[in-house]
Amino acid sequence: MNLPTRSGILGVGTGIPETILSNADLEKMVETSDEWITSRTGVRERRILAEGETNAQFGAEAVRNAVKNAGLTLDDIDLIISCTFTPDYTAPNAACMVHSNLGLKQQAPAFDLNGACSGFVYGLQVADSLVRTGVYRNIAVIGMEAITRGVDFTDRNTCVLFGDGAGAAIVGAMPEGSNRGILSTFCGADGQGHDLITLPASGSAEPINEERLRDKMHCLRMNGREVFKFAVRILGTAMDEAMKRADMTIDDIDLLIPHQANIRIMDAAVDRFGIPRDRVVCNVERFGNTSAASIPLALGEIVESGRLKEGMTVGLVAFGAGLTYAASIVRW
Ligand code: UT7
Repeated sequence: MNLPTRSGILGVGTGIPETILSNADLEKMVETSDEWITSRTGVRERRILAEGETNAQFGAEAVRNAVKNAGLTLDDIDLIISCTFTPDYTAPNAACMVHSNLGLKQQAPAFDLNGACSGFVYGLQVADSLVRTGVYRNIAVIGMEAITRGVDFTDRNTCVLFGDGAGAAIVGAMPEGSNRGILSTFCGADGQGHDLITLPASGSAEPINEERLRDKMHCLRMNGREVFKFAVRILGTAMDEAMKRADMTIDDIDLLIPHQANIRIMDAAVDRFGIPRDRVVCNVERFGNTSAASIPLALGEIVESGRLKEGMTVGLVAFGAGLTYAASIVRW
């Protein structure tokens, strides 16, 4: 059996909730202002799940759109990887909920990957390896989040930052000799920083009880300042490593998609790399921080708008809870 030398992204798609939560809406909920939120974060509005909607529903929509964009059918998908830290349930896993939402009859396996905001790029590395070793042919890698379901809407430090949504990429083999595809991936972690972003009572270490519920330990907690410092440092480290592995410099990168956490973190990355602003993709003002969904959402948008053209080289770079970090270079 001839193994593919390179995998690539065959198609991308998004699943975007319709409900919008604006800064003006938040001004009515907590002691904050549109001015504070936009100047400190760059966020003007975010999408949120409406009552009855689920994370997997939008993950499935993103897969349907990505499959269409790739010119494939759902029957071609032989593995589903759901990158999320806000699954519908801890069990069953989120990928099986996507499987169910898609109504897949086939036996394609489905598993979750929790790399928090770096999850989608972690997922790309796993999918790239599995395609190049011939284990699977067409893998749906989904970044999907329902973060607002786990946010305390009385805590102004966190509730203004996040949004919900999903984006998916279909990863498959590139034709032999093609210079397109996933040129490099790099993933890293620093577990010493595990307590900087947490959902404390969401697992088995501190199971939810009345006292923890009262203390809102089921909601997201974050040390924003420390995460900010880590992000600014690690984005450079991760991109440098991914570019080295692809034998490239920043001048070779046509478009850079940083994790859409905060406009000031993206500005710091622009300064660090000396990359012209018009080569940095930014949609944080409309979506807020959607964690694992942020990069595939941005990818989906620039493919749909035609900004990302065949032959362009894209840099993806992320950081998140864990702490995790990751980068990838992809030629379109
Ligand atoms: O995907 C990865 C996850 N997280 C991140 O990427 C987050 C990284 N961190 C950040 O983006 C920033 O640290 C924040 C946007 C979270 C906060 O910005 P900051 O410039 O670091 O503000 P701060 O935490 O230093 O707070 C400054 C002030 C504080 O008041 P005092 O103590 O100076 O009186 C806060 O209480 O701003 C206050 N504050 C707010 N004021 C109005 C915090 N949140 C708000 C708010 N509205 N929503």
